[in-house]
Amino acid sequence: MLLEKLNWRYATKKMDPAKTVSDDKVERIVEAARLAPTSSGLQPFEVYVVTNPEVREKIKAIAWNQAQITDGSHLLVFAAWDNYTADRINHMFDLVNEVRGFRNEGWENYRQMLLASYPQRDAQLNYEHAARQAYIAVGLSLAQAAFEEVDATPMEGFDPASLDAILGLGERGLRSVVIIPLGYRQPEGDWLVNLKKVRRPRDQFVTDVK
Ligand SMILES: Cc1cc2nc3c(=O)[nH]c(=O)nc-3n(C[C@H](O)[C@H](O)[C@H](O)COP(=O)(O)O)c2cc1C
Repeated sequence: MLLEKLNWRYATKKMDPAKTVSDDKVERIVEAARLAPTSSGLQPFEVYVVTNPEVREKIKAIAWNQAQITDGSHLLVFAAWDNYTADRINHMFDLVNEVRGFRNEGWENYRQMLLASYPQRDAQLNYEHAARQAYIAVGLSLAQAAFEEVDATPMEGFDPASLDAILGLGERGLRSVVIIPLGYRQPEGDWLVNLKKVRRPRDQFVTDVK
């Protein structure tokens, strides 16, 4: 059951550098991100899968030296579009038409509505909207990782401008949002592994409107 896996997962602090997550598991964790729902289906983000040890060392240095970045075997970087452009919007609407094999007037009107609003807006506002979509994918990847019994630590504790420079994201119109090292927990080195999961109880979290 998914909830059992979500109770099993935790923000792993110490990963075993001797263990490698298999490529098929990594692909399924990335596939969960690709399948994430996004506003208007624009998928305004990409995922980088970083295994290169030198690149991960550089990233660790601008991410509070968090050891999971190099102790894990893979590092996912979620990078959102820095802006909504007419090209990007058209590309996704054209893809829908191509995959489905027909054009629909309602859909084309919707395209025109987005083209008339998003590209004219402030780039920062657009980036923040895109980043919110990326977070949905982050959540789904974390759930898939738990399903695969792969440890994954979501991280915002890094300097985004430095990470963008390391991966050349700016040239591609992308900005880093969240990183997720993937690996396997090393319980003996992890202060968090045996601590209880802490969440507010349902009555402080849910309001039932009946
Ligand atoms: C967006 C986001 C950013 C986070 N950044 C970090 C981080 O940089 N380093 C870290 O060790 N944990 C980070 N965490 C983990 C949280 O502290 C952790 O998920 C939270 O305390 C709940 O604990 P649990 O995930 O172990 O159940 C982050 C979590 C999220 C969702």
